[in-house]
Amino acid sequence: MSDASTTPTTPATGEGRLWGGRFAAGPDQAAWALGVSTHFEGRLWPYDLAGSAAHADELRRLDLLTADDHAAITRALTRIRGEFEDGSFAFLPDDEDIHGAIERRLIALAGEAGGRLRAGRSRNDQIVNDLRMYLADAIAAITTDVRAVQTVLADQAELTLDALAPGYTHVQRAQPVTLAHHLLAHAWGLDRDAGRLLDCRRRLLDSSPLASGAMAGLTLPLDPQRYADALGYTGTAPNTMDAVADRDFAVEFLSAAAMLGVHLSRLCEDVVLWASVEFGWARVGDAFSTGSSIMPQKRNPDVAELVRGKTGRLVGDLVGLLVVLKGLPMTYNRDLQEDKELVFDAVDTLALSLPAVTGMIASLTFDTERIAGTAAGGFALATDVAEALVVAGVPFRSAHERVGALVAECERQGIDITDLAPEAFAAAMPELAGETTADLLDPAGAVRRRNAPHGPAPDAVAGQLAALRDRLAAVPRT
Ligand code: ARG
Repeated sequence: MSDASTTPTTPATGEGRLWGGRFAAGPDQAAWALGVSTHFEGRLWPYDLAGSAAHADELRRLDLLTADDHAAITRALTRIRGEFEDGSFAFLPDDEDIHGAIERRLIALAGEAGGRLRAGRSRNDQIVNDLRMYLADAIAAITTDVRAVQTVLADQAELTLDALAPGYTHVQRAQPVTLAHHLLAHAWGLDRDAGRLLDCRRRLLDSSPLASGAMAGLTLPLDPQRYADALGYTGTAPNTMDAVADRDFAVEFLSAAAMLGVHLSRLCEDVVLWASVEFGWARVGDAFSTGSSIMPQKRNPDVAELVRGKTGRLVGDLVGLLVVLKGLPMTYNRDLQEDKELVFDAVDTLALSLPAVTGMIASLTFDTERIAGTAAGGFALATDVAEALVVAGVPFRSAHERVGALVAECERQGIDITDLAPEAFAAAMPELAGETTADLLDPAGAVRRRNAPHGPAPDAVAGQLAALRDRLAAVPRT
């Protein structure tokens, strides 16, 4: 145990610490180091200041501040805003958190009036307000970045509407598709991610926590709706205890962020496969590739790998917060301070990753000839033959058996089904006598036949692409 825990080394009340009157000594150094949060809360300043300005207005309305005090506070808050903006605001060692630091500076600038602003509020409702407002802005920025990834996927799809490609299940060639269809599959997942983020944003703005105080509201007649109106919320918290205790809005954000990360990771995994010599589907642009320190020939898709790796952080942030919250009794507990670094990590991770993914996808050049060349092989049209038998009246169960047997026979002969002599094919599938094998086994024809609106046929994908472009153009402005 350090000496500091028994010997007061700091005064009981500090300027940037908002408590101390009932203590004989200041905090132990290790205890202080554990609790201080200024090194990560700095980014909350715009929201903390906005909340303070709204609070000053409310205290003035209730005549709990004189016009002079209100003016002095407002002037000081504007000055502090300028200091944060130009980077001159300095956190001091005695500042416990962003609220304490701002109050310390407010008093330095506005004198005694600054000490009046704490009436009618608690750090418990302030910090929830700060985090909600911060997340509303962060989500707007992230959603814009997600739209950019979708846009470059749509641009690449536009170029590859007619490009045949094998579609895979189990990383085994399954059925031919168009490359555009494959690319848009990624874009639609991202569309739902953007939707989830915006849902979360709408809900977190539903509930202004201010005027909840520490947890039971105030005896002062503060009007929660006025805070909501001043700060851009659409509603107010229904319960003061819920307002300060819950962080479900942060979990919702982290959950949407983790799902987004998983989608980005799957897209990146495809890029890694495509860029391999074995696949040889795509080349990642120079600006988004890296070399090896030992192997001069290497051209590594590091951006895709890094983003795939970052997903671990996003999932970890979500799980981390769920574990912090589980088992917390009502209402505020200091454990809740752990929410912010997790949320900030997810925001920062996405702010780094999304633009890199956008650039990487835009930089891809596809070898469409090579890709198309692999669309037909590997018995990719076996299902089409079985479905042709179904149209001719054969139950699918026996069609499947018979085509399977033909595939096995081809394998024995070491040939593809497309290499079968037309007579041999006709002999095995007499019901299909009217159909030419060339037509039935042509991958381009096979893709064209899959022309339902959600299918891979070029015309259908053109419609799908137009629908996606419409959605991107109609993105609700936040
Ligand atoms: N830094 C604290 C947090 O993030 C602010 C609220 C402190 N409240 C308290 N009762 N100590 O949660």
